[in-house]
Amino acid sequence: MYRLVFSQVLQRLDAEAVHHSTVSALALLARLPLLKRLLHRLLAPHDPALRVTAFGVHFPGPLGLAAGFDKDAACAEAVAALGFGHVEVGTITAHGQPGNPRPRLFRLVRQHAVINRMGFNNAGAAAAARRLRRTRGVPVVIGVNIGKTKVVPESEATADYVAGAKVLAPLADYLVVNVSSPNTPGLRNLQAVSLLRPLLTAVKQVADATPRRTPLLVKIAPDLADEDVDAVAELALELGLDGIIATNTTIRHDGETGGLSGRPLKARSLEVLRRLRAKVGDRLTLVSAGGVEDVDDVWERILAGATLVQGYTGWIYGGPLWAARIHRQLLRRVRRHGLKSVTEAIGRTA
Ligand SMILES: Cc1cc2nc3c(=O)[nH]c(=O)nc-3n(C[C@H](O)[C@H](O)[C@H](O)COP(=O)(O)O)c2cc1C
Repeated sequence: MYRLVFSQVLQRLDAEAVHHSTVSALALLARLPLLKRLLHRLLAPHDPALRVTAFGVHFPGPLGLAAGFDKDAACAEAVAALGFGHVEVGTITAHGQPGNPRPRLFRLVRQHAVINRMGFNNAGAAAAARRLRRTRGVPVVIGVNIGKTKVVPESEATADYVAGAKVLAPLADYLVVNVSSPNTPGLRNLQAVSLLRPLLTAVKQVADATPRRTPLLVKIAPDLADEDVDAVAELALELGLDGIIATNTTIRHDGETGGLSGRPLKARSLEVLRRLRAKVGDRLTLVSAGGVEDVDDVWERILAGATLVQGYTGWIYGGPLWAARIHRQLLRRVRRHGLKSVTEAIGRTA
């Protein structure tokens, strides 16, 4: 059914217009408590065998929505009601900004992929904080992903991230330092350990100072050389970070300028996950994103060492019930393997 609607209607409309309409519809749903609760009861993961605990936070299921869809924390509860185990909002910058000129979002339907060069369009940390304070109604785990304001020079990046973290860390179940989006000039340079160490040290101080000590993760690009993946992993261990999200979009493609996500990213994301697991074992929580399309992908990532898995492009092509369907199939998979819980599968093939 969704495939028909996608090919006959959605695919013919401007990708960003569809995106904004979807966010608006979900923001409306988030304000309808009865419907939201009903959907949550029907679609959200409830079986204890799907529960995972990471950095002290309890997730109802391992599959969450990756950053970039709910950039302004407008509809996280509605997303959770559709079956996602967590929602990573953002990327949010300390100051609001319009992002890059349109068009900046392109579908590659045959490849089940997307290219985007959105450029962190968002209303800024204060606006997101107001929305996050209002979140209530259904239980939802919310990660907050922060990035650098475009006009801030690289030399002042740490102060800019710290400003965003101060506002948002107290409202987040976990905080993510995003240094891997390709659409803010110079951002990915911050992945170099010499720049990343002071940045993560400063943000960690802010995260550690919240009443509940907010867990801190860093999100990396798939285009890092293997040695650089190792170097970031060592740094994360050294600084006592809680985890790594791998990966963001790739710039290794020959289409429109921007980051490529979806099916073509699958192999490299899995490769980076395996490398990280080999390096850090279970000392850090690994969150795998990139080309996750179905239950087989989720299962493969968990076996390879991911405690949590995220998807975005797979949802675009898979339809509104994508996450609910995958969690249902995952539960069957867990039982078929004679496991008591999905947690028992983490890292089994690593
Ligand atoms: C339209 C779009 C916007 C995105 N925006 C962000 C963002 O603001 N911050 C971020 O960390 N990742 C962003 N991402 C990357 C996703 O979070 C994810 O890491 C990547 O798309 C790989 O997962 P996927 O193949 O399931 O989409 C965006 C992805 C897409 C498709």
